[in-house]
Amino acid sequence: MAGHFSRRLQTLPPPATIEMARRARALRAEGQEIISLALGEPDFATPPAVVEAAHQAALNGQTKYPPVDGTPALKAAVARKFGRENNLIYQPSEIMVSNGGKQVIFNAFLATLNEGDEVVVPVPYWVSYPLIASMFGAVPVYARCHEEDGFRLKAAELSRVMTSRTRWVVLNFPNNPTGAVCSRQDMEEIAEVLRRYPDVWILSDEIYEHLVFDGMQSYSIAAVAPDLKERVVTLNGVSKAYAMTGWRVGFAGGPQALIAAMSAVQGNATSGVCAIAQAAAAAALDGPADLVQHMAKTYSRRRTMVVEALRQIPGVTCAMPEGAFYAYPGIAGCLGRKTAAGRLLETDRDFAIALLEEAHVATVPGSAFGLAPYLRLSCATSEVILEDACSRIREFVKNCH
Ligand SMILES: Cc1ncc(COP(=O)(O)O)c(C=O)c1O
Repeated sequence: MAGHFSRRLQTLPPPATIEMARRARALRAEGQEIISLALGEPDFATPPAVVEAAHQAALNGQTKYPPVDGTPALKAAVARKFGRENNLIYQPSEIMVSNGGKQVIFNAFLATLNEGDEVVVPVPYWVSYPLIASMFGAVPVYARCHEEDGFRLKAAELSRVMTSRTRWVVLNFPNNPTGAVCSRQDMEEIAEVLRRYPDVWILSDEIYEHLVFDGMQSYSIAAVAPDLKERVVTLNGVSKAYAMTGWRVGFAGGPQALIAAMSAVQGNATSGVCAIAQAAAAAALDGPADLVQHMAKTYSRRRTMVVEALRQIPGVTCAMPEGAFYAYPGIAGCLGRKTAAGRLLETDRDFAIALLEEAHVATVPGSAFGLAPYLRLSCATSEVILEDACSRIREFVKNCH
């Protein structure tokens, strides 16, 4: 191939989600009916009032370059949201709006990381944390969360992996892929560890905060430990809670100097987020809470159904997720067997590929999230489809020997 590619690019392996999507597309092109539980995307439509707000914004001429760090109207709505829902007071200069929550991470890491710095990422993790950290020359360091602990991060494990090179600690509750939620007690213990490292930034990714079940509550570390607030980036966005993945609006609250540095990064990459999408996001944040509650209840019902169905499959274990919209079943008991088509299942990737090709259900292997052998199933699809998927998985496993 002509031309040169950067060394940085070599740190970016093709994500397993994309590999599964590619294989699923190829099967669909052959006429197979594929159920996809691979994507982390709500199946709800964006609330009509939010779409209407975007329409009005476009008609009202909100079609010029917006400020890099967000429109005053959206930043004010974000400040109200943080105050109302998280008990966090952020001034406008402590808030920025990005192209999805993902760009917040990109901005924050690019603004702070140097070669050889360490970023602590609890395992299993959403793939972007280690990938973005690696892109900027940093080294992801993994803190292991165990199924026996409901995949919650324990303070002792965090303490074990901290070093003098640690620059960031990533917290993500409710968690993608496990749905784990951090109790207040656990969060206080984590805060206690972080107090011993006063130069370390903390990324608190709370994008699934409204999707918690069974009366669980999601906590913001900057509110639980206000003395840490000066080094916390509280990340959130409208993608998951308001079914707005395609609008690309995320936001962050954080210390003024860091927010200014992150805005400088964004100003040189994408500039401000689409002004029309920002108007829509402001309407979503200021809109009625019952829509979000309705979605959360629906995800909770689906999660229970999927977990109960999976637990009946011999060889499969499944913790009950406390939030988000994924199930993360363990498939250790299925490895070492052969599928009906004669494939040997040695890894969760083998399992996911065989499940897709033989039973036509697309999932993502746990190895993509740093913890094998598991599968991540998205419950953000209808109960009828989920039931069909679970019975296909049951049949697939039953036919393995
Ligand atoms: C844990 C977590 N954080 C952040 C994001 C980013 O979401 P977006 O960039 O769509 O706002 C995602 C999306 O999948 C996620 O799962």
